[in-house]
Amino acid sequence: MKSFKKKLLVGALLAMVCCSFAYEAEAADSMEVSQIGTSQSVDYLVFVNKTHKLPDDYEAKLPLITVKNAFGKEFQIEPETYQHFEQLRQALKKKGIQIELDSVYRSVARQKEIVAEFTQKYGADYVKQYVAVPGYSEHHTGLAVDICLVVDGKAIDDNDEMIAQKEIFAQIHPLLAEYGFILRYPQGKERITGYSYEPWHFRYVGKETAKKICDAGLVLEEYLR
Ligand code: DAL
Ligand code: ZN
Repeated sequence: MKSFKKKLLVGALLAMVCCSFAYEAEAADSMEVSQIGTSQSVDYLVFVNKTHKLPDDYEAKLPLITVKNAFGKEFQIEPETYQHFEQLRQALKKKGIQIELDSVYRSVARQKEIVAEFTQKYGADYVKQYVAVPGYSEHHTGLAVDICLVVDGKAIDDNDEMIAQKEIFAQIHPLLAEYGFILRYPQGKERITGYSYEPWHFRYVGKETAKKICDAGLVLEEYLR
């Protein structure tokens, strides 16, 4: 009986220590996010697509912070984009949906590697549909976010498997504009965007613009025309 009581006491103490660590980690996270402000140097409407290259002077002025996803993988991202992504992630978490960063800022050199990897794996036709030519990727802007889904503790990041998660994305997409994001390559707009449907690629444009684009059912090409 004595040893049972001792075990109970040790268990309770352990639980208290764990709770306080969890609380501190959460507090640290939110502190980091709340300190981030709008960056005057960033053009949140920068237009990059198959025919519009990243402006030459863009990256020199781009502020990037390093963040981690739940798996400990590091990413670089524009601060205001991250602040809003994190808010979106938390809102979805409350609905029982886990999204995590999968790919965010990519240098031109990294995009070259991705083109090579995907060409070898899937062929040139597939690459044309899903991967931008280096210098022409929105991922160079720091404002584009590819997410992966975590379902039953397992990360889903394969393109075809992601596209198959229709029910989950049907709950995610209507929330995007509220957090300043647009779905950049939606279904039915492939001929305008030049890319196949990518339910995972979100582009930060700011809340006001995102709402206008979403309400009008436009893509960035149509909005900026
Ligand atoms: N997947 C998008 C089109 C990119 O590579 O930028
Ligand atoms: Zn993407």
